[in-house]
Amino acid sequence: MDLLTQVETLNKIGIALTSETDPEKLMGLIVQKARELTNADGGSLYLKENDILHFYVTQNDTLSHRRNFKGGFKHHEIPLSEESIAGFVAVTREILNIEDAYNLPATVPCRFNFDFDHENTYRTRSLIAAPMKASDGKIVGVLQLINALDNKGDVVVFPKAVEPLLNSLASQAAVAIRNARLISDIKNLFKSLIQYSASAIDARSPHTAGHSRRVAAYSGAVAIAINDAVTDRFFNVTFTSEQLEELHYSAWLHDIGKIGVPEHILDKSSKLSDDKLSAIKARFELIKALETHRLHEGLQVRGNSDNETLATSNRSVYKGLQDKFDFVCHVNTSNFLSDEDLNILEGIASCNYTTLEGETRPYLAKEEFHALSVIRGNLTEEEYKKIQSHADHTLRIIENIPFPEYLEKVPFFAASHHEMLDGTGYPNGISGEALPLQSRILAVVDIYDALTASDRPYRRTMPIDKALNILKEEAEKGRLDKEIVELFIEKELYNV
Ligand SMILES: [Fe+2]
Ligand SMILES: [Fe+2]
Repeated sequence: MDLLTQVETLNKIGIALTSETDPEKLMGLIVQKARELTNADGGSLYLKENDILHFYVTQNDTLSHRRNFKGGFKHHEIPLSEESIAGFVAVTREILNIEDAYNLPATVPCRFNFDFDHENTYRTRSLIAAPMKASDGKIVGVLQLINALDNKGDVVVFPKAVEPLLNSLASQAAVAIRNARLISDIKNLFKSLIQYSASAIDARSPHTAGHSRRVAAYSGAVAIAINDAVTDRFFNVTFTSEQLEELHYSAWLHDIGKIGVPEHILDKSSKLSDDKLSAIKARFELIKALETHRLHEGLQVRGNSDNETLATSNRSVYKGLQDKFDFVCHVNTSNFLSDEDLNILEGIASCNYTTLEGETRPYLAKEEFHALSVIRGNLTEEEYKKIQSHADHTLRIIENIPFPEYLEKVPFFAASHHEMLDGTGYPNGISGEALPLQSRILAVVDIYDALTASDRPYRRTMPIDKALNILKEEAEKGRLDKEIVELFIEKELYNV
């Protein structure tokens, strides 16, 4: 190889290495390119971490053509010492070019490890190991190649001329590995931050604890099932690893806007808070006392103050008031209000009492009646809107995160998890084709988890069958994507 070809080859390798950011794939690529450069039958790569060399990759052409080859060594560690060839190279920081690994020169203190050869009935002869030095001179790892082959496929010694080339490649590889590790570390940090924040917001309420984690797991499973699906609809649909990552972040962040919803609304298990119900109870006690007082006075004025008459009248007043208060308590926790219930409640709300100072006051304040008169569930319209606003908050919070280009749709996907195919969802009533597959997946799995989550203290867990039936009904109504629902049920993706 002339000098120009060498430079061109190294340049191409450099470009290939810098464009791979997945550390695992990068290590494989480094060994592959180094073997191409030196025409080596096999190669392996060690990475240095503190005083340990981690063995990561091995490739071997001869063995890979054997039927029973199981893929060489598994990941293992060796100490950073001169006892092993890789350790020796990492310590001396010099390339080592050996004619026969079974006959190491006396000047070399290390020993060749025969395990690989014995396990695979292989004979390592020529060997070259280069230290992977980063630009600051630190050793990142060791690149080791075995059995250089000539044009006829016979094992020869690695030519001296290949040493500077391999040294150069090893240095490029060191920089590429460092960069890939840095990117990977930053990604992991970012992922942890997102998962931690979302989990903390979910944990504000026992109703939602663990919800985002499960939605991320379900949506990932659905996307992978779509990749594997051979139905007409999904045959040509493939989520790339970057799109899977985008969906993963969207799922984790979809409810982050709940940070803007007060806890007492998120946690609402009855129409009135305990404080408000206690206030009503105290008021009814006061009314009882006032009524007894008035009764007593009235009987005295009429000269009819015998104890028995007073007690009978008292019992009747007490019972009437207690019935009213009991009914308020019943309505407070009831999930559905019939017309009759509403009439009774209106009757109670229209009652007034007079204070000792002569002021007329209602049995129930306007806002108490408003909260109690909710027909379905326990949220007033204002509270429901407040909860719905979390989708908008999600968008506003995460559109400020400077996502890289391949994650730029995360804010949209995350904020559209309550949009329905027929346009009846929120916050924007997006419908049909305007709703991408990612939003549709999130809508399905979000509803499933909301229905089946076992961490909702005031509600019994809905059986899986019932929840799946609800998904089917929603799909039939045209609100959820039918084929996603079918895939979710058929492949039992709720079991992830
Ligand atoms: Fe939500
Ligand atoms: Fe959700």
